[in-house]
Amino acid sequence: MVEVGGSKNDSVAIMAGALLVPGKTVLHNVPHIRDVFTLMEIFRHLGVKTDFRPDGALEIDATRLTTSEAPHDLVRKMRASFNVLGVLLSRFGHASVAMPGGCDIGARPVNFHVKGLEQLGCRLHLEHGIYTGEVRRFRGANIVLEFPSAGATQHLMIAACRASGKTIIENAAAEPEIIDLADFLNACGAHIYGAGTASICIEGVEELHPTEFTVIPDRLQAGTFALAAAITGGDITIRNAVQDHCRPVLAKMRDCNIEVTSVEEGYRVRRVGKIGATDIKTMPHPGFPTDMQQPFAALLTLADGVSMITETVYESRFRYTTELARMGADIRVEDRTAVIHGVDRLTGAPVTCTDLRGGAAVVVAGLAAEGQTEISGLEHLDRGYEGIVPKLQSLGANVTRTPIH
Ligand code: EPU
Repeated sequence: MVEVGGSKNDSVAIMAGALLVPGKTVLHNVPHIRDVFTLMEIFRHLGVKTDFRPDGALEIDATRLTTSEAPHDLVRKMRASFNVLGVLLSRFGHASVAMPGGCDIGARPVNFHVKGLEQLGCRLHLEHGIYTGEVRRFRGANIVLEFPSAGATQHLMIAACRASGKTIIENAAAEPEIIDLADFLNACGAHIYGAGTASICIEGVEELHPTEFTVIPDRLQAGTFALAAAITGGDITIRNAVQDHCRPVLAKMRDCNIEVTSVEEGYRVRRVGKIGATDIKTMPHPGFPTDMQQPFAALLTLADGVSMITETVYESRFRYTTELARMGADIRVEDRTAVIHGVDRLTGAPVTCTDLRGGAAVVVAGLAAEGQTEISGLEHLDRGYEGIVPKLQSLGANVTRTPIH
């Protein structure tokens, strides 16, 4: 049995939302991971008091912000930090925030965020990698996203909360984290309707008030544990996982002879027979999540047959495949498709985490590989997986973390 922690992508979005709220917000189930710590550091630079309480809850007291300039070096470390731009504009009427960083999985521009904020009435200016903006007060607008971007949907939802009038975001992202962010903001007094559909309506309010809120479990962490069980022929129960959030991944696992059954507060994963081959195409939610194609590819390296993974969300999210190849995987990438011929065995090798989910792929593969796998670049895993080593150990995996001196 393994328990899944709170969602990284939900936590960092809700934390940005909390910055909009004067007063003390209390968030439960926020994971202790690097991206959360980086965002807390950014908040402290803005004058916000934030800390984990002894009971594990995260407190954010954004009663008073002292500056509208986010520390550029910290913002560049992660993607979700860019959401503070909309918040600072909403609270100060001006802001200065650098282009964000995050995993190296493609170009990752911020043009949808910028265009949407401008449609809400703000003037933005990019110079030396830093966006500077001004707005008297955001005003409601009809925004049509070119692609259902999770980040842009979250950013614009947050920015529109205190706008004058009504904002509609069309072609919005529909991930569980979007619904949860709307639930959080509504608990703070916002008026958001339609989150989880392609059209979200935000009726602006004058002010938000603090609340206490619990972040949803991490569906990507749950999926990673499910794949770890599948590749090793295990039989595990994943507690605190919401099956509905994991549906696209679990459906594909069933295609591969992995049995998934509901149990109280989660689901049980068990392999029945040989790993079947399958084809995957990543899509915005509720399609197959781009964040899961990497650990799923690890499973398919040992499948009985040929599988194809087509990545449609990011242009270069296959760097991890060279690491799997070091372990004996037969995997070739052509353009946006990886073709995987299942092999009988993987063998342990020195490999690197190329990015967060690429790290999950080599961990999953390493669990099934014969002999020892040595994984470097753990700083990527630390951005998103809380306590992955003890959790895998508790499932019976032979895995240790060696401190680097
Ligand atoms: N895009 C643009 N312009 C924009 C925004 C996005 O062209 O202004 C493109 C991106 O380049 C990408 C696509 O739209 O090709 C989708 O990007 P999206 O905005 O949905 O991604 P994100 O919000 O930057 C979040 C997660 C990612 C996850 C994606 C897709 C966070 C902090 N990050 O990123 O998570 O892959 O949604 O679901 O929420 C991860 O957890 O490993 C991770 C990278």
